[in-house]
Amino acid sequence: MPNFKTNSIVMPNFPIKFGNSMFLYKASNNKGESLIKVSQNSEEFFIQIKAKDDGFLVKADKISSPSQVVFVQQALRDFRDLCQCSVSFSNIEPQKIQNKKRYRVLKDIEFFINKFITKKEVWIEIGFGSGRHLLHQAKRHPDIEFIGLEIHKPSLVQVAKQCDIQELDNICLLDYDARIFLEFLKSNSVGRIFVHFPVPWDKKPHRRVISSEFIKECIRVLKVDGTLELRTDSQKYFDYSMEEFLKLDTLELNLSKNRDSDISSKYEDRWKKQEKNIYDISLKNAEISPKKEMIKKISFDELFKFEDVFDNFQTTVENKKDHFLHVEGIYKISKNRGIIKVSFGASAKNERVFVEFLEDKISYFPDNILATRANKKAHNLLTAWLKEIVK
Ligand SMILES: C[S@@+](CC[C@H](N)C(=O)[O-])C[C@H]1O[C@@H](n2cnc3c(N)ncnc32)[C@H](O)[C@@H]1O
Repeated sequence: MPNFKTNSIVMPNFPIKFGNSMFLYKASNNKGESLIKVSQNSEEFFIQIKAKDDGFLVKADKISSPSQVVFVQQALRDFRDLCQCSVSFSNIEPQKIQNKKRYRVLKDIEFFINKFITKKEVWIEIGFGSGRHLLHQAKRHPDIEFIGLEIHKPSLVQVAKQCDIQELDNICLLDYDARIFLEFLKSNSVGRIFVHFPVPWDKKPHRRVISSEFIKECIRVLKVDGTLELRTDSQKYFDYSMEEFLKLDTLELNLSKNRDSDISSKYEDRWKKQEKNIYDISLKNAEISPKKEMIKKISFDELFKFEDVFDNFQTTVENKKDHFLHVEGIYKISKNRGIIKVSFGASAKNERVFVEFLEDKISYFPDNILATRANKKAHNLLTAWLKEIVK
C-alpha cells in the first residue's frame, strides 16, 4: 500500500490543482484522521492522513482505490510536494511498486454485469480450487462458455495463468461469492452448475454454499433440463444437503455413490487415496421461471442535511438475519458538507463505502453499490437510520 511518513504538513486551501492531481477537499474526523479527495486521470479517490505520535502517515485509501496503483502514487507525490512534507519514509516512487499482472480471463463483477455477452450456452463452476475440472471441461466443450467462481485469490491467479497458457477463450473467472453471484443471472439461462467438494463448514454452517435459498436460485437460473451437480466426500454435508433439497416441494434428484468421473480434482484424488466414499446429488430443473429484473445500482432519492447528521451522529451496528449495517465514522468538510463511512450488505459479501453529503446531493462513493437483495435491505436500514437521527 503506497504511503509516506512526514513530521509536518503545510495544509493548503482546497480545491487546489498541483502537478497531475486536483485536490478537491479535506474531510476530517475527531480522531486525527483526514481524507483528501483527489481527481486524477478521470478517476476520483481518497488519500488518507493519520496523525501519529511522531508526525503523520499519508497513504492510499483502500475503499476508494483507483484502477491503477500508479495514480495513487502520483497523487501522494503531488500531495507531498504541495504540502512541503519532510519525508522520513516513503514507498511512492513509481519503480518500487509493480502493477499486478492482469490476466485476460480474470473479470470483475462490473464487467460481468455490463459487458458479458455470449451466444453460447453457459456452465458455471462454483469453488473451482485448482481448476482441474473447470479447465478439463472448457477444453472438452469449446462450444460452451464457462464462468468459474472462486473466493481464494491464489487459486484464481493460478487458473487464470493456465487459461492463458492453454489459450482457452471460453472461460471467465470471477472473485465473487457464489451465493450472491446467482442474483446477477437471467432466469433459465444456465445449462449446468457444478459444486464439487465444497468446504463442509461443519462448525460454521452459515458459510456453506448449499442452502435451500441457493437451490431455489439455481432452479431459477437453470434452463429446463439444466442441472445442479453437487459432489462431496463428506457424508455429513451430503445429509445436510439432502435435507435442504427436500425442503422444496417438487424436484427431480439423481443420487449416486462412488461414481467415476471423467476427471478427478485435487480434492477427489486426496479422498480416493484415503478410500473415502464420494456422493453425488444431481438436480434436474423442470421449471420455467419468471423473468427477473436485472440488478441496477443503488442511490439516494432524498436529501439529508449534513449539519443535522453531524449534530446527531453516533456510530451504529444493526445485524439482521441476511444483512447488516455498520456506520463506522463521520468526517466533516464544512458546516454543510461531509462524509460518513459505512459497511453493509450481506455478511458473505459486505460493501465498504463512503456516503458523501454535498449541499445539493447525497451519493455513495465509490458509486458502484449494486442493488443485490442484501444491499437494498441494508440501504433501506441506512436511510431509516438517517431519518431517525435527523428528525
Ligand atoms: C474444498 S475446495 C474444492 C476445490 C475444487 N472444487 C476441487 O474439487 O478440487 C472448495 C473451494 O470452494 C471455494 N469456495 C468456498 N465458498 C465459496 C463461495 N461462497 N463462492 C465461491 N467459492 C467458494 C473455496 O475457496 C475453495 O477453493
